[in-house]
Amino acid sequence: MSAHADVPDGVARPGRIDRVLISATALEERVHGLAHEIARTYAVTSDGLIIVTVLSGSLVFLADLIRKLPLMLRIGLVTVSSYPGGTTRSAGAKLLTSSYPELQNRDVLLVDDILDTGGTLRLVQREIRAAVPRSLRTAVLLRKTGKAPPDVTVDFVGFDIEDVFVVGYGLDYDGLYRNLPHIAEWRPGNP
Ligand code: XMP
Repeated sequence: MSAHADVPDGVARPGRIDRVLISATALEERVHGLAHEIARTYAVTSDGLIIVTVLSGSLVFLADLIRKLPLMLRIGLVTVSSYPGGTTRSAGAKLLTSSYPELQNRDVLLVDDILDTGGTLRLVQREIRAAVPRSLRTAVLLRKTGKAPPDVTVDFVGFDIEDVFVVGYGLDYDGLYRNLPHIAEWRPGNP
């Protein structure tokens, strides 16, 4: 065994999984509720919804959410870099790639894993608004309470959480832990 019970031998890292914040069951129930809210909002959309999602942290959330949405929908993807490598401190959001259907005059739902400082969503919302959609709403699974500036607004929120670094259910530390079925706190520590 390594000194850290959560990583295999030989790859001990300066930190550890501290505690489960949101269980797999709670995630499933809340994503179901969010899907219900979203489906109600877009029930009258005639030409289908376009969901633009931010990779890679939203992958698991998106996969679960869309399978609960009884709507006509298409998916677009954007890649934003903000937490390079083994760090828990944002280096500022930068748009790396974007690939989505025509957004002009369409209903667009932006889906992200977490609203933290708001830099990522501000950037992507600006990019989408420039394409002149009919409507733009935003859904996040997690929101860190009291951190995002008032100009970054979201319409659907799964959970408000305290200001700790979290991993699991798609979220990572240095590329790891995306496959955890729950959301856990990641605590930096000594190697
Ligand atoms: P900002 O600060 O731009 O952050 O709102 C949004 C993006 O940064 C990543 N992020 C995290 N990733 N645990 C993670 O694994 C966290 O606690 C965390 N906080 C922010 C995430 O990719 C998100 O889209």
